[in-house]
Amino acid sequence: MTQDELKKAVGWAALEYVKPDTIVGVGTGSTAAHFIDALGTIKDKIVGAVSSSDASTEKLKSLGIPVFDCNEVDTLDIYVDGADEINGQMQMIKGGGAALTREKIIAAVAKKFICIIDSSKQVDVLGKFPLPVEVIPMARAYVARELVKLGGIPVYRENVVTDNGNHILDVHNFSIVDPIELENKINGVAGVVTVGLFANRGANVVLVGTADGVKTLTE
Ligand code: 5RP
Repeated sequence: MTQDELKKAVGWAALEYVKPDTIVGVGTGSTAAHFIDALGTIKDKIVGAVSSSDASTEKLKSLGIPVFDCNEVDTLDIYVDGADEINGQMQMIKGGGAALTREKIIAAVAKKFICIIDSSKQVDVLGKFPLPVEVIPMARAYVARELVKLGGIPVYRENVVTDNGNHILDVHNFSIVDPIELENKINGVAGVVTVGLFANRGANVVLVGTADGVKTLTE
């Protein structure tokens, strides 16, 4: 199976977690796009979605799925999204698609985070995938200097402006043995909007696309 076929398999498998008459939290990226396609087939059974990016909003709307502002909902039953890396504790690096801040907000609102990945995303230690950090534009150089002090090598993601009007630093050279500590440290740097470490709030269920089918990991 190709990597995209594995992503499609988990995107469709996630439908099982969608309850009727609910608003669904929806992520961003190529795996989440498969989930949106699947969600389109049951659009008459759900109330709608809260979306983590302009790209996902556009796709949801093109399929006729109503999109709600996050401020309009008190809680979400589930949030379904991909990841760039995930460890055995269901902690993740996210933000390859630059949507990390909205993703983190919706993950916080949702009761359950259903992470959908192909097996290439599973790692023992997070950090081989460069860690995305969304920064306020005027703070970019300062935050980069602080990230160097933490042992990282930050690289400015050129020509990318997030949906929130901010910039992204991709931080290389981290071997993240204590993801919660690093998440808290980076979030504490002035000018950081969000770090793409999802450790304090990890996934609750992971659907892994493998050559032998979709495997389900739970807490
Ligand atoms: C976007 C993300 C995505 O979930 C992550 O980049 C995985 O993407 P894909 O499903 O295309 O492999 O965090 O900001």
